[in-house]
Amino acid sequence: MLSRDSHGRAILGGRRIADLLEAAGASTPAYIYDLGAMACEARELTAAFGDQPYLVAYAVKANTAGPVIRTLGDAGCGAEVGSWAELQVALRAGIGPERLLLSGMGKTSQAIDAAVGAGDRGIRAIQVDSVDELGRIAARARAIGRKARVALRLNPGVMAETHEAIATGHDDAKFGIALRDLAAAFEALDGASDALDLVGLGGHVGSQLTRTEDYLEGARAILSIAVTRPGLELVDFGGGFGIDYGDGCAVRPADFARAATALVREAMPGATLVVEPGRALVGAHGSLIATVVATKLSGERRWLVLDAGMTDLLRPALYGARHRIEPLDAAPDPHALTWRVVGPVCESTDEFGEFSLGSPPPAKVLIRDAGAYGYTMASHYNGRGYPTEVFLHADGRVTTSHANSATSWVDARSAS
Ligand SMILES: Cc1ncc(COP(=O)(O)O)c(C=O)c1O
Repeated sequence: MLSRDSHGRAILGGRRIADLLEAAGASTPAYIYDLGAMACEARELTAAFGDQPYLVAYAVKANTAGPVIRTLGDAGCGAEVGSWAELQVALRAGIGPERLLLSGMGKTSQAIDAAVGAGDRGIRAIQVDSVDELGRIAARARAIGRKARVALRLNPGVMAETHEAIATGHDDAKFGIALRDLAAAFEALDGASDALDLVGLGGHVGSQLTRTEDYLEGARAILSIAVTRPGLELVDFGGGFGIDYGDGCAVRPADFARAATALVREAMPGATLVVEPGRALVGAHGSLIATVVATKLSGERRWLVLDAGMTDLLRPALYGARHRIEPLDAAPDPHALTWRVVGPVCESTDEFGEFSLGSPPPAKVLIRDAGAYGYTMASHYNGRGYPTEVFLHADGRVTTSHANSATSWVDARSAS
């Protein structure tokens, strides 16, 4: 867990983050992850299901690093993947096919084939996003000579109370099968019973939910349909458990799990309850460390320019997300001089917000709660290399990964 020593310096696992980066030979911008804390997060969640059959399918898109997936797999999680490549990464991290779900719209034939062909009977379920997709999956299953295990991803028509860009279960969202199209979906399933096995129903109403109501409204809608299809082995209520980005989050992932368990126990005892948290398992246990490269005074404005920008952490530019930014080696002081903190990228939206960082400003800063949807959304825009990643393992080992550097980008782009 992130903490501060008596000098205010940022600490992870009892060691200074600055020392951990130095030991790893990591230059900034660099993500640092606390794998032990992620494992604790997973164990606290899994304990909440009691004797209910369950599967915590970690949403790999939140953080695709092998050490992260392996840590969560060892702590009892499966994985929800959104592409062929994510499926391969999860399999290589040791998540068995029976603990894997494939979701997403526009699945490629390559992804469908890999999902149907994995292990003895394919992955646990392919989450079908449209009536049209049922036909495509059936065709691939017939070509492979195997039945595909499918679950319908419903769009339950719930407008979750969260940022509009991450609300996914309402009528205007592109995801899932609308309730009015369900009859057509069941008809298509019945017509393809030689190729498709319907094993469950699911949905995902949105991300960063800071109360359980919307999640449970989606869950009730899914259950009310699932009970009309006897023999289903699972119901999947998706992810979306919120975290505290600094302005509070009164509910813990275990609160969602307990409430969902109560609903399933009553409506479909014996069915496996699947949840798909991403952010809640990893978000709070990753930080992005950046160096202050310049200050700039222009009129009334004070800009602080970092070596990290929207190519390293896109969420602020993408949907106005605010991540707390603090000095790396001094205690945060809410009364200190404020700066508008920006990255070096050629976009006006490459801005993290205004933070009290003092004068003179710190040499390095820590951008908090960046473990989810951080590195996974990195890009090479402006020819920038991807940030380094440093992993603090539960046993104290420190490992690092540095891929897609600016040098490799130069080589790739200048090839004739
Ligand atoms: C289908 C599905 N499941 C799970 C998740 C994970 O959401 P979160 O990270 O908010 O838990 C997402 C996020 O986009 C998703 O689309």
